[in-house]
Amino acid sequence: MDSLLIKGGLPLHGEVAISGAKNAVLPILAATLLTSEPCVIRRVPNLSDVRFMGQILTWLGAEVRFDNGSVRVQARKLKGTGEYDLIRKMRGSICIMGPLLARLHKATVSLPGGCVIGARPINLHLKGFEALGARVVIEGGYVHASAKRLVGSPMFLGGRAGSTVLGTANVMMAATLAEGVTIIESAACEPEVVDLAAFLNSMGAKIAGAGSPTITVTGVKMLHGAEHEVIPDRIEAATYAIAAAMTNGEVKLRGARADHMHAVLDKLTDAGATIQRNGTGLTVSRKGRLKPVDITTLPYSGFPTDVQAQMMALMAVTPGISIITERIFESRFMHVSELTRLGADIEIEGPSAIVKGGKPLSGAPVMASDLRASAALVLAGLAARGTTQVNRVYHIDRGYEQIDNKLRQLGARIERIEDS
Ligand code: EPZ
Repeated sequence: MDSLLIKGGLPLHGEVAISGAKNAVLPILAATLLTSEPCVIRRVPNLSDVRFMGQILTWLGAEVRFDNGSVRVQARKLKGTGEYDLIRKMRGSICIMGPLLARLHKATVSLPGGCVIGARPINLHLKGFEALGARVVIEGGYVHASAKRLVGSPMFLGGRAGSTVLGTANVMMAATLAEGVTIIESAACEPEVVDLAAFLNSMGAKIAGAGSPTITVTGVKMLHGAEHEVIPDRIEAATYAIAAAMTNGEVKLRGARADHMHAVLDKLTDAGATIQRNGTGLTVSRKGRLKPVDITTLPYSGFPTDVQAQMMALMAVTPGISIITERIFESRFMHVSELTRLGADIEIEGPSAIVKGGKPLSGAPVMASDLRASAALVLAGLAARGTTQVNRVYHIDRGYEQIDNKLRQLGARIERIEDS
């Protein structure tokens, strides 16, 4: 397994291009299953999760062709069952269920287990399918959903932690070909849901209200092929913004959309960073001392849980006390012990971590546990004295395109040690 070697202590300077959003492209690729006509998706990041979704679509019978940042998919004929192992390995693939149910009136996928950040049930997805008239059975590790016909219906999709992103996406896709009108209350408002709805509407769907807690889908008989450019990755952009603030550097995030990042940019400004918005992205720098800020993760437009770990790394090098509360996933503090290994002073109290920041970090071998935790360890390595070795970077390759090349471009001393 590859690892990253980082010699810290240098400010980052320069420009980095923000890739297409992983969490938009995964459901958008699944949505191509809704038509037998060709679809072309652009600004597709070269990530292991994306390639994985390509394998799943191919397994289902679609022709999939990746070509230099674009993907052409044509799902002429389809199987209704997702390959057990493929699905189990990547949770995001659960969003093939809605399109298969809509197009074939049957869908079988393996029940996605929990992951290190939480139990992550799919009860709300299934509740939505049942509201559309599907019969759902969980058996032998599989979820089977089938329906003679799907009929639009009002439903409430709010759960323990509020809205569900992929649940909203899945049910919205199933409702596109249902008879009549579906109203999803407590829908997720994430920009990735809005991007998916835009793609579906370009295929001929009738979706209104995406980006608000109430989404209305008027079912249509069939959808046609379409072309779409994916939105930039706001989580990747937030990660590089924090890297600039953490290393006392100045970084231009080319293609970043500030209008998708209000909560993050607001907290970074409170912490002492300077944010300049311009037509082609935004520039993040830091002139003065960092200040501690408290963070509570919430559904969009609140502070994103996918930036919690990276923000904790920043607070670890910020003099003073900050409290970081995780409200979305019940066990998303796997990075705390590894940040502590680098010299951070962090205590966990229930859903909160109390960060006593400002102690200098020193490089050490650390272990990545999940995608965003590994990003936090890379950021800490950039600020630490000496050399940090981040192991199991396959986690980071799932969601960050060429992170080592991009950081080197900004002046970081980072190299990938490939496993022989
Ligand atoms: C999406 O996951 C993202 N993944 C996650 O990003 C992100 O952390 C999450 O949304 C929240 O923003 C993709 O888009 C591929 P949820 P999703 O359903 O849709 C509970 C990353 O780092 N819940 O919005 O699976 C759930 O347990 C990844 O890129 C139910 O209880 O998340 C959680 O506590 C990690 N029942 C909360 O809702 C359900 O049926 C939010 O989960 C569904 C969810």
